[in-house]
Amino acid sequence: MPAKSLPYDPAPERLPRHVAIICDGNGRWAKDRGLPRLSGHWEGYQSVREVVRAASDMGLEALTLYAFSTENWRRPQLETDGLMRLFVEGARRELKELHENNVQMRFSGRLEALPADLRKELNRHCEVTSANTGLILNVCLNYGGRAEIVDAARRLAEKVAAGELTPDQINDTLFEQELYTAGMPDPDLLIRPAGDLRISNYLLWQIAYAEIYFTPVRWPDFRKTHLEEAIAEFQRRERRFGGLK
Ligand code: IPE
Ligand code: IPE
Ligand code: MG
Repeated sequence: MPAKSLPYDPAPERLPRHVAIICDGNGRWAKDRGLPRLSGHWEGYQSVREVVRAASDMGLEALTLYAFSTENWRRPQLETDGLMRLFVEGARRELKELHENNVQMRFSGRLEALPADLRKELNRHCEVTSANTGLILNVCLNYGGRAEIVDAARRLAEKVAAGELTPDQINDTLFEQELYTAGMPDPDLLIRPAGDLRISNYLLWQIAYAEIYFTPVRWPDFRKTHLEEAIAEFQRRERRFGGLK
């Protein structure tokens, strides 16, 4: 039987280097089924597993996932506690396989405000996988794009105050080095499942020229084929970066 043709061109130079996803729609997925919101989050974890594996198999350089925002603390404690448990449990379960697949783990956000048991797991992921050379998997936890920019500005101000830097030396490159994503390329493709057409405080600096792809598919239903379709659409776009074709 002939191999099924892919919907996208797998040539490395045609792929986005970095894909970012807003993992949204878990609550609505659960509500539609008469289930508690937390079961939607657990189902979303299965999508994370599938998409990470697909991104790694495709040879993407980096994948950034939005798992919990600085604003998500506004939700009922039952939900935020359940999410923290899910993150701890998921981190414990996945480390071995991620490491075997040569994935390098990173975490972005105000991590110091996360529960201690979760911080411990995240540190372990970073230590164990730091020398891996495959996919960079960056998970955003207690992440806010504004918080990230404020934190970067504060560190630069500290350096100026300490006499290590003068204000006129601050440029895009120096600023980027203070972001959580330092050293990573900017996302080429941003995917938002679940139908809402907004950014919700995600990677505000880094998405300056990202191609944005919205789909009504909710995150717990998001599969490898949906990632492939998003990449196919990305490959049909014409990027100009403010210039001319
Ligand atoms: C995204 O799903 C996961 C988190 C924000 C933690 P939601 O929980 O926002 O799902 P909806 O948007 O309510 O459907
Ligand atoms: C963004 O989704 C955050 C995550 C997916 C983790 P939200 O569900 O929090 O965003 P809004 O509230 O719909 O803008
Ligand atoms: Mg949501």
